[in-house]
Amino acid sequence: MTATPPLVEVRDLSVLFPARAGGRPVKAVEKVSFAIAPGETLGLVGQSGSGKTTTGRAVLQLQKAHEGSVRLRGEELTTLRGRALRGMRRHMQFVLQNPYSSLHPRMTIEAILAEPLIVHRTVPAGQRRERVAELLELVHLDPAMMRRYPHEFSGGQRQRVVIARALAVNPDFIVCDEPVSALDVRTQAQIVALLKSLQERLGLSYLFIAHDLAIVREMAHKVAVMYRGHVVEMGPTAEVYDRPGHPYTRLLLDAVPVPDPALQRERLKRAPPDLGFLDGDGGACIHGEDHARTGTPWRHEVSSGHVVSCRYWPRDGTRGS
Ligand SMILES: Nc1ncnc2c1ncn2[C@@H]1O[C@H](COP(=O)(O)OP(=O)(O)O)[C@@H](O)[C@H]1O
Ligand SMILES: [Mg+2]
Repeated sequence: MTATPPLVEVRDLSVLFPARAGGRPVKAVEKVSFAIAPGETLGLVGQSGSGKTTTGRAVLQLQKAHEGSVRLRGEELTTLRGRALRGMRRHMQFVLQNPYSSLHPRMTIEAILAEPLIVHRTVPAGQRRERVAELLELVHLDPAMMRRYPHEFSGGQRQRVVIARALAVNPDFIVCDEPVSALDVRTQAQIVALLKSLQERLGLSYLFIAHDLAIVREMAHKVAVMYRGHVVEMGPTAEVYDRPGHPYTRLLLDAVPVPDPALQRERLKRAPPDLGFLDGDGGACIHGEDHARTGTPWRHEVSSGHVVSCRYWPRDGTRGS
């Protein structure tokens, strides 16, 4: 089997937030590892506070990791500084949840889309307007809209502008952090379809963060489930959804069939009172293996590429231990 080398490779990434007065430091991300192939989407799911956003930011070097490695196109990013890092930023972009706050209200769409072209000097000044028009067409907006301001657009149109801005510098990799969570269901479907068609057309790789499991199932080739900073399960999307191996994944999936998506979102956002029982069994392997004796890793490959952490509760986490 000749595997394509991954575009993004993350190994043992950990992010520690310093303690606030009287508190303990927060291990927001703990030894997270994954790889994303060119043209592939990795979905990252887990409820609010599990460390998804921090993972995305640490991958993009917007948040400092205290350990671990992030490689993009084979290049180690965690040790890059200044110009070298700015050069790599061209290859990785971010699409955030809120299209209202992520566009400057006093800039025209043209100015917003021209900004990355100026910063990265990818297009000569005389060709910028042409490139802006091309970007708007790419996200199915009328190029004539470039003279308008963000407030003149609907939520879905603004998110298209945000996507166009991410595409301006021809990235290979985009972190989409809850990119459709603020939109109504119909617009969500349109943006998901757009992201998928752009992926096919441009060969993009996505880290697609969402707590909406139905959308992740539609978008992602592989999925990683985060629980309190750890990836507790990862594998091909259909595998993980149809044969979840970790109790937390099962709980997440059980929480899905709520007919009202807004209600479902609220449910997943809440603290997990029903997860309390997971805490008690922190030390034991759920398959009954004695890892301390065998010296094997605390995870099991249950089928090809489908890996499940075998603890209810990660022992080395700072919280709950
Ligand atoms: N800047 C920060 N300072 C301190 N703690 C933070 C900061 N950002 C996030 N956290 C904490 O890190 C954990 C993970 O947060 P986050 O990555 O935003 O989770 P998610 O995106 O899954 O909702 C949470 O406990 C959160 O409170
Ligand atoms: Mg988040």
